[in-house]
Amino acid sequence: MRLIRVDHCDTGMTLGKTIYNERGSVLLAQGTELHKGLLKKLTQHGIHTIYIEDDLSEGIEVIDSIPIELRNEAVQVITEGLNTITSTTSNKNNLQNMMKSGRVVRSINKVFKDILSCLRENRTAINLLASTKIHDNYVYSHSVNVAIYSCQLALENGLLLKNIEEIGLGAMLHDVGKMYIDPNILNKPGKLTMEEYEEVKKHSELGYQTLRKIHEIPLPVAHCALQHHERIDGKGYPRGIIGEEIHNYSKILSVADVFDAVTSHRVYRPAVLPHKALELLYSGSGTQFESKQVQLFKGCIAIYPEGLTVKLDDGRTGIVSKYNFHAVGRPQIRIIKNEEDKEVIPYEIDLATNENLSLEIVEAAALL
Ligand SMILES: [Fe+2]
Repeated sequence: MRLIRVDHCDTGMTLGKTIYNERGSVLLAQGTELHKGLLKKLTQHGIHTIYIEDDLSEGIEVIDSIPIELRNEAVQVITEGLNTITSTTSNKNNLQNMMKSGRVVRSINKVFKDILSCLRENRTAINLLASTKIHDNYVYSHSVNVAIYSCQLALENGLLLKNIEEIGLGAMLHDVGKMYIDPNILNKPGKLTMEEYEEVKKHSELGYQTLRKIHEIPLPVAHCALQHHERIDGKGYPRGIIGEEIHNYSKILSVADVFDAVTSHRVYRPAVLPHKALELLYSGSGTQFESKQVQLFKGCIAIYPEGLTVKLDDGRTGIVSKYNFHAVGRPQIRIIKNEEDKEVIPYEIDLATNENLSLEIVEAAALL
């Protein structure tokens, strides 16, 4: 299996991973033979990269970090949850509404516990490129992704179970305030005006004010909504607090939030690949993000996930065939082109072994 840009896809290629819609229904099943009409539809739905199965990539497996059923369930829970919370807290705070909010918190906690036990058991580098979805609303799947990344980062931090669970709830609910923002602004294809940007920025405070009213939500969790756009250097919003004034949960969450945002395709900009997103995090290390969190996050994610096409500094091209969890950023590669860019009979090399330590990946893409 390998990752390929939809505009590089040819009729007759076989889809390697099932594509779902936001409600978890199958849109295109694994094994589907692709044709022009389907490819056009995928692009129209904002899907620009897919996994295909072909001879060149035979035997390369792309394993879901979280089983797709669990991920779909989490998206369902958060979709219902965010809608219930925003409709009940904006109405009168009667007993019935309080009970509804309580139920939401319990179901989010439950699904997050399943995500946590899954990540604890597997302890692999996270690759969410494989969970291709068509979005009705970006906030829902983004909230689940941020919870997955934050959970892994919290585990790397060695936090107590209670704290990890609070971070999970905070991550799932961090953007609840966006439910109050005009979707036309949130999904605007072009650059936001100053006024529109100021409007979007309100979601932190709105989210906090919503969550602090819910009895079952601990205050540090509500602070995740308030502080996730704060920066270590004090140039964030809404309060411009600095360094240690920012809660540890939010320091973890802001790294996960930005990583998922830039690796997701949006109407106003295309997605970047994980290695580019990591560069972006490093450029904000010590200013936007706490350096320790960026460093730890590097160990949480698959920088060059299986199926990605890469170019080495000696000119050879290959497909990442296996991620080396013990050697971050130095995977096994199936070489498909030699130094002169000529196709060769594929063979494997492992960048983590001593003999290949001088080799570096200089380029990575869905297809080169
Ligand atoms: Fe946000």
